[in-house]
Amino acid sequence: MAEKIRVGVAGYGTIGTRLADGVALQGDMELVGIADLAPTLSIRALAENGMIGANGVKYNLYLVDGADKSQFDAMGIPVAGTFADLCKSVDIMLDSAPGGVGAKNKENYYDKYGVKAIFQGGEKNSVADVFFHGYANFEKGVGQNYLKLTSCNTTGLIRTVDALDRAFGIEKVAITIIRRVADPGDYHRGLTNALQIDKAPSHQAVDLMTIMPHVNATGILVHTPVTHGHIITVLATAKNGKKITKAEALEVFQKHPRIRVVSIDEGFKGNASLFKYARDLGNRRGDMYEIGLWEDSIVESGNDIMYAINIPQESVTIPETMDAIRASMKMQLTREEGTAATNKYLGIGKFKK
Ligand SMILES: NC(=O)c1ccc[n+]([C@@H]2O[C@H](COP(=O)([O-])OP(=O)(O)OC[C@H]3O[C@@H](n4cnc5c(N)ncnc54)[C@H](O)[C@@H]3O)[C@@H](O)[C@H]2O)c1
Repeated sequence: MAEKIRVGVAGYGTIGTRLADGVALQGDMELVGIADLAPTLSIRALAENGMIGANGVKYNLYLVDGADKSQFDAMGIPVAGTFADLCKSVDIMLDSAPGGVGAKNKENYYDKYGVKAIFQGGEKNSVADVFFHGYANFEKGVGQNYLKLTSCNTTGLIRTVDALDRAFGIEKVAITIIRRVADPGDYHRGLTNALQIDKAPSHQAVDLMTIMPHVNATGILVHTPVTHGHIITVLATAKNGKKITKAEALEVFQKHPRIRVVSIDEGFKGNASLFKYARDLGNRRGDMYEIGLWEDSIVESGNDIMYAINIPQESVTIPETMDAIRASMKMQLTREEGTAATNKYLGIGKFKK
């Protein structure tokens, strides 16, 4: 078998913990290590488990500049080396540090050590050569050194719009995002009894147009005081006034490995039902890689089609980040092969018969 691609994760927070798990599950990648600044609760939990993460893989911990090693030593948390050591040992780094840190890491480390990197949504687009989505523009990322993932909402939204676009040709979409305001466990922000509205157009609609420039997109975002997933409603218009029927749209969504079609009648009443279902499946951290799409939300509006999706914000970008590694490292050269390899290792779509 060919040598495994060596991967590091910088920033072991909400996204980094899950990226590390995602890499640990890929049979053709090796998780060399994770890097962080402080002995956070996530790192302490990892240490309590003997530094063993998903799939029985050992997660070696490296410390970034500014970390106080004596704090880790005092807690008995094993440290494998410095961030520079990690950079020297990997082919590609997944940067999931807080927004803005990735750009500094690029300048101080990735450029210097010739390490490729994949950045998350909190970084500016200018950090990367390509703003990337595994299904919509995989080929643009092939062989590129720096890719940036779309944000959680945009990742899930594009899965559906790209699927419709390939089937029917989409000219325009209008979205409303009902956005969870914080992740479970967050204390640093939150609305308690108020909804908050952002200026239109939402960045997710603008981002969609960056990835899919032939689609005219706009939208409105409302923050809501919940933590278990965003809901987006989408109104999509096909080119040349072509009508998309509910049956046609449903068929396209059902075929997509990363879309889980559910219904209110089955008991999926909203975001919390999907979160509970993922926990009942026994998924690590209650994660779900697929977005939920309510069959009984799909409606025709004239020639347009409207539907609602659920975005599990903490885990939805993990599969597309694995796709990004595959594209950047030229492990696969097409979207079909790249996404299929990721899906296989993450067990995505196995519920579809
Ligand atoms: N939370 C989400 O739902 C979500 C969804 C999609 C994308 N994102 C994006 O992912 C990125 C990370 O977000 P998050 O929610 O995981 O943040 P987080 O705050 O949960 O985790 C960040 C981690 O980085 C560590 N860190 C701090 N300074 C560091 C440094 N200099 N070098 C390395 N690590 C450092 C922190 O200790 C923490 O463990 C952001 O770009 C964010 O926009 C977040």
